[in-house]
Amino acid sequence: MLAARFHRYGNPDVLVIEQAPEPEATPGSVRIRVQAASVNPIDVLLRAGHLHQVLPLNLPAVPGRDAAGVVDQVGPGVSGTSVGDVVFGLGGLADTTAEHAVLTAWAPAPSTWTSAQAAAAGLASATALAALDALGQALDPSTSDLDALAGRTLLIEGASGAVGSAAAAFAVAAGARVIGTARQDKHGPLAELGVLPTTYGPGLSERVADLAPQGVDAALHAAPSSSLPDLVEIVGNASAVVTVIDAEGAARLGSAKVDARNDSTLLRRAAALGQRGLYSPRVAHELPLAAASRAHALAEGGSGKVVITVP
Ligand SMILES: NC(=O)c1ccc[n+]([C@@H]2O[C@H](COP(=O)([O-])OP(=O)(O)OC[C@H]3O[C@@H](n4cnc5c(N)ncnc54)[C@H](OP(=O)(O)O)[C@@H]3O)[C@@H](O)[C@H]2O)c1
Repeated sequence: MLAARFHRYGNPDVLVIEQAPEPEATPGSVRIRVQAASVNPIDVLLRAGHLHQVLPLNLPAVPGRDAAGVVDQVGPGVSGTSVGDVVFGLGGLADTTAEHAVLTAWAPAPSTWTSAQAAAAGLASATALAALDALGQALDPSTSDLDALAGRTLLIEGASGAVGSAAAAFAVAAGARVIGTARQDKHGPLAELGVLPTTYGPGLSERVADLAPQGVDAALHAAPSSSLPDLVEIVGNASAVVTVIDAEGAARLGSAKVDARNDSTLLRRAAALGQRGLYSPRVAHELPLAAASRAHALAEGGSGKVVITVP
């Protein structure tokens, strides 16, 4: 099969398009003919070698954590999914930017999404829902799903990002009042989501106090920023603040660090909201597999979600 691969760590130019061995569906997994795979921040970090000491890859490696496509092999022990189903989901640490990928967590793609949107939803929605579930449990352990967010005020740092905008959509759907940080030119799309937008950086607590004079009940740190202590101060309760980035800060302050899990339940919940038009992943750039290097370079520039399409 054709795949994007890198034989050494480095800048986006290390990505080449070449023949690679086809993976096979393993027990509990499905294999898809990939239509699209998204570029997540972790793909860039892994390819650049920034994580090689904690998460070493066997090189050559295929980048990509998530993908969408058509099931073409069903692994032993899988029920409820058939060859021909259109799904989106999560592969391993690095293996989806290719003609075929094995997913260990997946859900039917909503008919309301393009294949690029379905690819963009995998890691982002699983991370956002895992983080919001943790916040919901911190606010009210007796409730399930996101019920505890109803009527609460939630601050999301990084609300314009893939994870943050998914979390914003899910929280708004759950009945939360959401304040989200983003650079000024992304405030329009956030307002369309039903989010009260504000900028990040110095003065955040004053801007948030203007928007929520009654206070903030919980916060989600979904941006590569050093603002976790500010979020804890704004909420006034470290246990009602979750980060998906800052493990060290979370341990020091008493907040939780949450990671995405390869859990099909999370993806099915995201898909259900997608089908109802309540979650529409934003895709800023779509590039073909042949332009995988350019796709990674664009993703490094932070100009919005990049998706690689696989013809
Ligand atoms: N733990 C996990 O399992 C897990 C899973 C997925 C992602 N993550 C991490 O979560 C973060 C977000 O991922 P993503 O896919 O949503 O990335 P993304 O789409 O690139 O979004 C990044 C977000 O961060 C904001 N941002 C950038 N610099 C900032 C700063 N200095 N202060 C405040 N906000 C800033 C951006 O805002 P503007 O674009 O408006 O400037 C944008 O909203 C990444 O660091 C990623 O590594 C963790």
